[in-house]
Amino acid sequence: MAKQTVSTLIEMKNNGQKISQVTCYDFSTASLIEQCGIDTILVGDSLGMTMQGYDTTLPVTMDEMIVYGRSVVRASKTAFVIMDMPFMSYQVSVEQAVANAGRLIKETGANAVKLEGGAAVAEQIKAIVDSGIPVCAHIGMTPQSVNVFGGFKVQGKGEANAERVLKDALAVQEAGAFMCVLECVPPKLAALITDTVDMITIGIGAGAGCDGQVLVWQDLMGISMNVKPKFAKHFGEIGEAMMDAFKAYDAEVKSGEFPAPEHTYSKSDCDDAFLEELRSKYNS
Ligand code: KIV
Repeated sequence: MAKQTVSTLIEMKNNGQKISQVTCYDFSTASLIEQCGIDTILVGDSLGMTMQGYDTTLPVTMDEMIVYGRSVVRASKTAFVIMDMPFMSYQVSVEQAVANAGRLIKETGANAVKLEGGAAVAEQIKAIVDSGIPVCAHIGMTPQSVNVFGGFKVQGKGEANAERVLKDALAVQEAGAFMCVLECVPPKLAALITDTVDMITIGIGAGAGCDGQVLVWQDLMGISMNVKPKFAKHFGEIGEAMMDAFKAYDAEVKSGEFPAPEHTYSKSDCDDAFLEELRSKYNS
């Protein structure tokens, strides 16, 4: 399969083909994803929560994003890789936004950047796109604004809010975004936005009417077992499977069953007489 690009993804939308997206933050997982036909990978700042254990995405830095992003890009031969711009890497000024978007692309080799916010960040989106970097916008429930929303809450509820979310979609499209994540937006509103705009819509908690879907990989694999957002579906119970394997390993190490002879380099050992000599020389 050839590498997905902005054009191939837009072609998918225009042909009515759904687009799959999943978050990823490391080489091993990206290597698995790469073999499964997933169209796009998002190196989300959700890594602050899933990989680093913070309660929000706010503490994540540019340098951290770059370390995780590089690892994902090394494994991604066909998936289109999008780098999240972390909190306060684009809000301060348009110049700061362009410089940091440039760093993310230059230092990771990813294909696009994503930033949160609608009309409020339209100037930043336009300037980043003008500098030659494709932009995925992110509207609705934007986790970097958790302190404004007072929690991770559905957005676009009620007539005025619904119109505001639609206007945000139009503003980011006008600014040049080729793709837009709609997070925690009621499904009919998300479908209406998808029908109204030409850019690709990717839903998370926004119903089936979007052009594609994204999930945090730990949510879809049943690894974030204590937190299950309403919109997440477990496509596997990998958390349980991993715990079973860790427990079995612990038990075999403690019982001495692991490692067995077949897990050792016994053919490389010196002969017993020489080892005996070593033993008496050093192990008095
Ligand atoms: O950071 C992230 O993983 C995201 C997705 C949940 C859309 O923004």
